[in-house]
Order: sequence, then structure tokens, then C-alpha cells
Amino acid sequence: MQHLANYLEQHKDRFIKELIELLKIPSVSADSAHAQDMEDTAQAVAAALEKAGCDTVEICETEGYPIVYGEKILSPDLPTILVYGHYDVQPPDPLDLWDTPPFKPVLKSTPLHPDGAIFARGASDDKGQMYMHIKALEFMVAHDALPCNVKFMIEGEEEVGSSSLDAFVKENRAKLANDVILISDTGMIAPDVPSITTGLRGLSYVEVCVTGPNRDLHSGLYGGAVANPINILTKMIASLHDDQNHITIPGFYDKVISLSKEERNAMAEAPFDLEAYQAALGISAVYGEAGYTTLERNSIRPTLDVNGIWGGYTGEGAKTVIPAKAYAKISMRLVPDQDWKEITALFSEHFKLIAPPGVQVSIQPHHGGQAYVTPMDHIGYKAASKALEATFGTTPIPQRGGGSIPIVSLFEKELDSKTILMGFGLDSDALHSPNEHYGIRNYLKGIETIPYFYKYFTEMAS
Ligand code: BES
Ligand code: MN
Ligand code: MN
Repeated sequence: MQHLANYLEQHKDRFIKELIELLKIPSVSADSAHAQDMEDTAQAVAAALEKAGCDTVEICETEGYPIVYGEKILSPDLPTILVYGHYDVQPPDPLDLWDTPPFKPVLKSTPLHPDGAIFARGASDDKGQMYMHIKALEFMVAHDALPCNVKFMIEGEEEVGSSSLDAFVKENRAKLANDVILISDTGMIAPDVPSITTGLRGLSYVEVCVTGPNRDLHSGLYGGAVANPINILTKMIASLHDDQNHITIPGFYDKVISLSKEERNAMAEAPFDLEAYQAALGISAVYGEAGYTTLERNSIRPTLDVNGIWGGYTGEGAKTVIPAKAYAKISMRLVPDQDWKEITALFSEHFKLIAPPGVQVSIQPHHGGQAYVTPMDHIGYKAASKALEATFGTTPIPQRGGGSIPIVSLFEKELDSKTILMGFGLDSDALHSPNEHYGIRNYLKGIETIPYFYKYFTEMAS
């Protein structure tokens, strides 16, 4: 596809400029102060889909933020690819840790990105990766090179649990019908090591509150005589892992599918440099479940992590107080075949059970989702592999991802479709962190690779 390389060369400055415009809108789904920005972003995505050549584009209202749907149907006899992505982004805070403001995108080069990277919230997760698909469509339509039907579904609630999507997918099964789902919302191993993510972890997210006395107390007058909710909460949390870093909730591992020796050996062949990993994070040692490697710990094993913990006095100086309440937000990453609702129930039951007399525990489940695995013998995997080989000149490496995209298992259940996770981000993109960025090379490689996926998938599916 020589014209593809030419087109990219000719239009890349515009592609970068357009993405920068999209990144300027602070589409933070977690913060209702940005409700208007969410609507504006949905409009911008819809306009981009229309300009790129979709025949129909709709902004579908939901109980939450709108889902942007677009399609170009050439013929009912041709295969159909459904592209999913999300236009919402994570909150940008802590703001003071950003070198440049999160919604004023700048292009800067770094040692890893000599061609430059765009620094902005959402650059990699997922506006930049989602926009590659719109630009790839633009190219294919402009060159009469679209080989199959395509549907786009770009949502605005991924970062807060995709709660409106369940109903939307169930109500629109026919509209969303497809032969494969293609998502770029994951990463690759290194700039020149293309990879296909073959699995995602599930998630159970809960908030807990421990209540002690009916008011905050003087820590001298009452200290030692009543349960301090923060002391209790931290003790309870600490007990959730044993000294081997196994999770102690009864039944937690019952449904975990263990990988065979062969599968674990295959995983161990993926390039991974422990020293570089530690250096990149500024840590002198890794930490985790006994008996597993770092790559296994962050992909094929379930976890339990405190995401936030608060209570009592945290202002300037000292205040001697026993707080009435202590809180924590806890996430559990899950693997096949753990069921997130079941795990949420097991957690709740256990957490209440381990509370000592003198405190009350309440648990508020948030969102969740199931884990997912892509079979490597699926033609979608093969098409992605061939496409990446065409543009990178090397066979991509399969890798199980540690993150979650709960919608993927829902797609499998409701639409009976497999999802191919062809991501172009890097772990160093600082997803969800200050100074998130996306390499220009990754962005352009993505745009270049996607049309090959369409071509090979259509050939294999026909
Ligand atoms: N794109 C990420 C998920 C991801 C990133 C998977 C890198 C694999 C590699 C997605 O936007 C995300 O952040 N998902 C959330 C889950 C959601 C329910 C809030 C996550 O994994 O924390
Ligand atoms: Mn994402
Ligand atoms: Mn994310």
C-alpha cells in the first residue's frame, strides 16, 4: 500500500493537529463539572467520523454520557468490523505534577520518542488511539480501499465503568452485529516490538467505611479505650494478604484458571528486563505474590489493592483526634474464570466478618467487569498479526494485559464476537498519571497498520 505511506507523509501534520484539538476538550467522565465538555467531545468525534466517510453517524443518548455511533456499510455480503474506543479520560490530578497543563497539548521529544510525543490527558488512553481508527478510515475511503463494512462505537464512560453500555449493547444487538471487534486501547512491549494483547483482567471495585464512636474524640481522653477506625481499617486491610502475598479472602482463588507449564513458559519468552523495569519506576525491588514472575503477577494473577484511604485529620500541623470514621477504596483485578459479582460478595462477607466488636463496617460496591482472553487461533488475531508484521517487519508478540476493559466480555456475551486488542501505546505513556503522552511514531504506525488489518481480515473472513 504505497499510497498509504504517501498519504500519511502528506497528511501527518494535519492528523497531529486534529488530535491536539480533540485533546483540548477536558472530557473527564468522573467529574460532573465536565458534563458539557463530554457533550462537546461527543460532537467532535461524531463530526470527525462523518468527515472521514461514515455514511451514518448518530449521537446516542444514554442515562450517562452519549455513545457515538457511526457506520459505513458497503454490502451485507462483506464482513463487518466493529471498532470500539472511548472519548472520556481520567481526571488529570494531581495537577501540580504535570510539567505542562493536561488540556493544553504540547509536542515534545523524549529519549524514547525522538520524533516527539503529544503530552496531554487522554493522548494515549484513549483519544489518540481511538483517533487513529478515524484517520485510517479517512485514508481507506479516500482511496477506495475500504474492503469491508465498518461500525464505530465510541463511548464516554469507559473510565467510570461503562455503566450505560450494558443496556445499549442489549438494545442494539442487530445494529452492532459484526464479525470481529477491533480495539486500540492497550499497549505494546516496546517501540519496535509490536504486540497483541490476548487478555484483560476483570475488576471488582468497592468502597469501605469503618465507623467507630458516634463523633470524633479527644485522642487523650479516649485513646486506648475505644476502637480507632483508622487503626482497625488498616489492620483489616493488612490481613487481606498473607506473608506470601496471597489474598486471604476465603474462596477468592476457587475459580482462577491456572496456566499450564507450557503457557507459562511461552509467557516467559516475551522480552522483559527486570532491571529496566525497576529503574523506570524508581524502585529497588519488585513485590508480589510468591511463586510468580513479575509478568505473571501483573497479568494472569488476581490482585487486591487499596486505591485510596482517608479519615481523621490530614490538615496542617497536628490535631489529636480519634476519628469517627475511616474509608478506603479497594480494587481487585480478576482473571478467568472469576466472576466479579461473586468476588464482590466474597469480599463483602469476609470484610464484615473480620471487623472486631466496637466498629461497624459498610461496603459500597462500585463497578466491575469480567476478564477476557482472545483465542490466538481466531482469524482476527491472525489478521492483526499479519498487519503488524507488514508495518513493523517483525511478528508481534502475544501478551496478557493487566488492565481492564469490562465491555470486552460483555461484547462476547451479548454479540457473540471476539475482540482483537491491537494497541499502540507504551507502558511508559503514563496512562492515568501526570504527563500522559503518546508517541507520534506510535500514532502514525497505528494509522498505517489498521488498513492492513481490514485487508487481511476481509481476505481471511471471505
Ligand atoms: N485502556 C485502559 C485499560 C488498559 C490499559 C488495558 C493498558 C491494558 C493495557 C482503560 O481505559 C482503563 O483504564 N480501564 C480501567 C477499568 C475501568 C473499569 C475504570 C482500568 O483498567 O483501571
Ligand atoms: Mn482506555
Ligand atoms: Mn484508562
